[in-house]
Amino acid sequence: MTTATIINAPSLANCSFTELGQQVEELVQGGAHWFHIDIMDGHYVPNLCFPIRLVGELKKKYPAMVADVHLMVTDPMNYLPLLKQNNADWVSFHMDATSFSRRTLTTIQELGMKAGVVINPSQPVSIIEPIIRFLDYVVLMTVEPGYPGQKFMVDSLPRVSELAALRKEHSASFLISIDGGVDYPNAIECARRGAEVYVTGVFTVFQQPDGITEACKRFQKTMTKSLGG
Ligand code: DX5
Ligand code: ZN
Repeated sequence: MTTATIINAPSLANCSFTELGQQVEELVQGGAHWFHIDIMDGHYVPNLCFPIRLVGELKKKYPAMVADVHLMVTDPMNYLPLLKQNNADWVSFHMDATSFSRRTLTTIQELGMKAGVVINPSQPVSIIEPIIRFLDYVVLMTVEPGYPGQKFMVDSLPRVSELAALRKEHSASFLISIDGGVDYPNAIECARRGAEVYVTGVFTVFQQPDGITEACKRFQKTMTKSLGG
């Protein structure tokens, strides 16, 4: 039996700023696959997070890790050259942050990066249909964007199934990423419904009594086991 892909993409927004380097190292030791890096502009969302320079520094120290950049900014096109300079691997943006989703996706790809859109809780997942063939991944927000540590919205579960059905219907191969409040058993339920990438945070890999490294290992083990692996 083949086991579904489970990609652990911890959201660095949950790291302590005073212990960022140490906690990133612990994530790597725990076998995390991607770094999920939230970039906010204080305009698309009422908050700020990391500078793009962090992406370059992480890739220099951990070239094998995938830098997954979640743009919560208006006019995402403006940020693409700088992201490329900083060696970002996967880049996602919110469709309502630009009038030109298709052009933004293809520009990301022309720069040699993987591209995706982010769907907010208030948007129908069918919003991706006109641009479905340009997608390397879709990030489904399972909280309102802007702040780590919020509770997973359980009405997102049927939306994961809808996305997986759209993918099948269009013979598409984009990955489905789940971002916001990822916890057990909701993560397991998302995996059963076809999601691959998990933006893990405060309920799974951070602030756990046995530390980040052990919590990362537990995440992988729990998810793989729940899928019969
Ligand atoms: C929310 C961010 C998430 C968030 C995930 O706007 O996009 O990446 O930091 O962390 P938790 O799991 O704590 O919600
Ligand atoms: Zn995010």
